[in-house]
Amino acid sequence: MKLSIPVFFLLPLQQNMQDTMNHTNNITIAVDGFAACGKSTLAKGLAKALGYIYVDSGAMYRAVTLYFLNNHIRIEDGDAVANSLANINIDFKNIEGGNHTFLNGKDVENEIREMSVSNYVSPVSTISAVRRFLVACQKEMGKMKGIVMDGRDIGTVVFPNAELKLFMTASADVRTKRRLLELQSKGVYDFNYEVVQQNLLDRDHIDSTRADSPLKQAADAIVIDNSTLNTAEQLALALKLAEAIIAKKKERVEQLN
Ligand code: CDP
Repeated sequence: MKLSIPVFFLLPLQQNMQDTMNHTNNITIAVDGFAACGKSTLAKGLAKALGYIYVDSGAMYRAVTLYFLNNHIRIEDGDAVANSLANINIDFKNIEGGNHTFLNGKDVENEIREMSVSNYVSPVSTISAVRRFLVACQKEMGKMKGIVMDGRDIGTVVFPNAELKLFMTASADVRTKRRLLELQSKGVYDFNYEVVQQNLLDRDHIDSTRADSPLKQAADAIVIDNSTLNTAEQLALALKLAEAIIAKKKERVEQLN
């Protein structure tokens, strides 16, 4: 698999490299949690407010899944999986303020959110070969700090030393309604409440029980249950936490100088 770090990552990364020399107060923020509980909304908001890079690790697993579906790669076929990874190139671009995922040069941002992918992504994500490569790339992206990444194993495996770890949760009912609205906002009306909820619960189960880097709350993560919080409220809460850690870090750096 070839995973190129996209230009829109590299530019901030280069910028961050210089910043790291000047401002060592940049931190790493890991946002983990269950399916459709608002991780990416919060992570994007945090990154924007802090001027950090945002990475949607779930989009990478979804892109690999789409490739497997399109190329009829069966996940039971270890050789086919291993061989196909070399042909997968995932890229991200910022288009009109939105993050777009590219698979081998094609914008697949909408396709990777379709139910056909949602139904297959958790089994694909249990494959260690897939995880190894994606995690290596994610670690590379976070080297310079100043990053917010959301997923399932960010605080436990990808960035175990992240200064701020958030673990998000919300009731199954709230999550289902949010995902339904999200699908409908894209013109997808083919799936009812039960179907969408079953997908979320099935994924949570597979993600939490897989052998390789299961979804679990890091011991030092702060739990945010956003069942009754709106987007602005959860952002304000998380931003306060991040700013306190950044301020402390700044203080320590100033004391050292
Ligand atoms: O947005 P949503 O909560 O539906 O999920 P996502 O973040 O797009 O992730 C899709 C799937 O990718 C998850 O259900 C996991 O199976 C897998 N995933 C993972 O295994 N590890 C990650 N760090 C991120 C996602």
